Amino acid sequence: MTETPSRILVPAERIQARIRELGAAIDKDYPNGVLLVAILKGACFFLADLARAITIPVRIDFIGISSYGKGKTSSGEVKLTKDLDATIDGLDVLVVEDIVDSGITLNYLVSVLGQRKPRSLRIVALLDKPDRRLRPVDVAYVGFQIPDEFVVGYGLDYAELYRNLADICVLELSPGPVLG
Ligand code: PRP
Repeated sequence: MTETPSRILVPAERIQARIRELGAAIDKDYPNGVLLVAILKGACFFLADLARAITIPVRIDFIGISSYGKGKTSSGEVKLTKDLDATIDGLDVLVVEDIVDSGITLNYLVSVLGQRKPRSLRIVALLDKPDRRLRPVDVAYVGFQIPDEFVVGYGLDYAELYRNLADICVLELSPGPVLG
């Protein structure tokens, strides 16, 4: 089997236009500034463009999370692989995520960060696949709701490939050449 991005689902221009709208909404809602917390690795591209679409004072931090059995089982086992560099006590925190799928990652993260007493804690996600949800997640800002298709590009990977595509594309499995 081979896998190739076969179709553009969200072209780069639409992504960037929507990010400008999200940035304007965040400007309006956080006049005193905000701490953007991006989830490694996929959200890095979205973070970079979103931060530049925001004009209020912005600080950034990163957190790493790994989950097991995602897509195959609903075990929902999640662990922190890299913690934030600094405390979030009393801060307005906006978690930046590329995609909400089962909701397992963000459900866990909200519970972990919520215990650290931020002043506020909300989520901005570029993509939302509501059909796949297993755990509840309250997403304050959504870029695009998308159908249940395997997408790559703009930070999203398949086996660590395709993160650098400017568009969000659908990856389809297709029969490869018969060898031997
Ligand atoms: C992906 C994506 C989200 C998470 C969403 O991360 O970036 O963090 O899955 O899925 P969920 O809603 O089912 O939890 P992944 O674990 O693939 O890591 P990556 O960002 O390094 O690609």
